[in-house]
Amino acid sequence: MKLNIAVLPGDGIGPEVIAQAVKVLKAIAMEFDHVFTFNTALVGASAIDKTGKPLPQETINTCKKADAVLFGAIGNTKYDIDPNAKVRPEQGLLGLRKELGLYANIRPVIAYEDILNKSSLKKKQIKDTNILIYRELTGGIYFGKRTLSEDGNTASDTCEYSRLEIERIAHLAFKAAQTRKRKLTLVDKANVLESSRLWRRIIQEIAPQYPNVKLHYMYIDNAAMELIINPRQFDVILTENMFGDILSEEASVIVGSIGLLASASHGDKYAMFEPIHGAYTKAANKGIANPIASILSAAMLLDHFGLDDEASLIRKAVDKSLKLQITTPDLNTKYDNISTSKVGDFIEDYINNPEETNLNFTNIHLGQSTII
Ligand code: IPM
Ligand code: MG
Repeated sequence: MKLNIAVLPGDGIGPEVIAQAVKVLKAIAMEFDHVFTFNTALVGASAIDKTGKPLPQETINTCKKADAVLFGAIGNTKYDIDPNAKVRPEQGLLGLRKELGLYANIRPVIAYEDILNKSSLKKKQIKDTNILIYRELTGGIYFGKRTLSEDGNTASDTCEYSRLEIERIAHLAFKAAQTRKRKLTLVDKANVLESSRLWRRIIQEIAPQYPNVKLHYMYIDNAAMELIINPRQFDVILTENMFGDILSEEASVIVGSIGLLASASHGDKYAMFEPIHGAYTKAANKGIANPIASILSAAMLLDHFGLDDEASLIRKAVDKSLKLQITTPDLNTKYDNISTSKVGDFIEDYINNPEETNLNFTNIHLGQSTII
């Protein structure tokens, strides 16, 4: 298959982790005889530095011409500490989501058996957790009207949703639930917010079209607690933009590191794949950023094109790296010398030689001589 992939590394650790995802995609192309071409473009703080804009038109064009977009991370502490900044890196990502119509953001949360002890939560609580979060991505408070009074003392952000915005992602979430444990939980704040009540009304209307899916409702405050106490109860979670942002980051505690959580963003025409973590500026260029979320985002990119064997080989390689603890320091208490690129090298090697022994992999990647 020929794929033209737009690569937007962005800021902070973005370039390092995306370099590993590209390395892995190149290994897949080689192994399975595909032709993947990569076109890099600027976004976020690095785009502001070079062009004055967080989302240059050229970047939009590159993305629209591509079959898919691979996105790293954006943000920079210098903007975080300045509430008066008019131009912000995040506008690049939000602008891109809007411009490409990426309304459905899908975030899998899987408790990997081999690293259950890396979570701050108890093993028995998190074991077998497998959740798919459907986060609405182009509506709600992120994109509603904002005001700031002239005297600077009053501000507002509006959370607005339309029927169309709710319906299109709801159908996707119901369909996903049909292929899984057939349970869909709508997370909202319908006891307070009118927009949440609209979500409930529309979901109730749609539900009869999916009679084999069991529909549940949960308030966001309760869901924030239940996700930690009993994450196994969830199958597919459907929620609006900001609740999904917060809940998915909370869910990373179950998995053990936010550096493991990948995502896919779909619209009617375009698709983008990105780790859920941010730019983590203070870790940039130190080789300590976990590339697995980006590598798993690349696997989701392959899923999107029906390249199932390819995606599953990446996931097997990731499982192996977790099993052998060929992982960055966020997850590693055994070895202290495993860098971002070393994890990428390991996964690349596994793709090239999946039949290698565990011992061989460990020796090679710890820089020791191979015994076998
Ligand atoms: C995410 C991020 C973004 C969001 C930021 C960087 C704008 O936190 O993708 O989860 O809030 O959507
Ligand atoms: Mg977030």
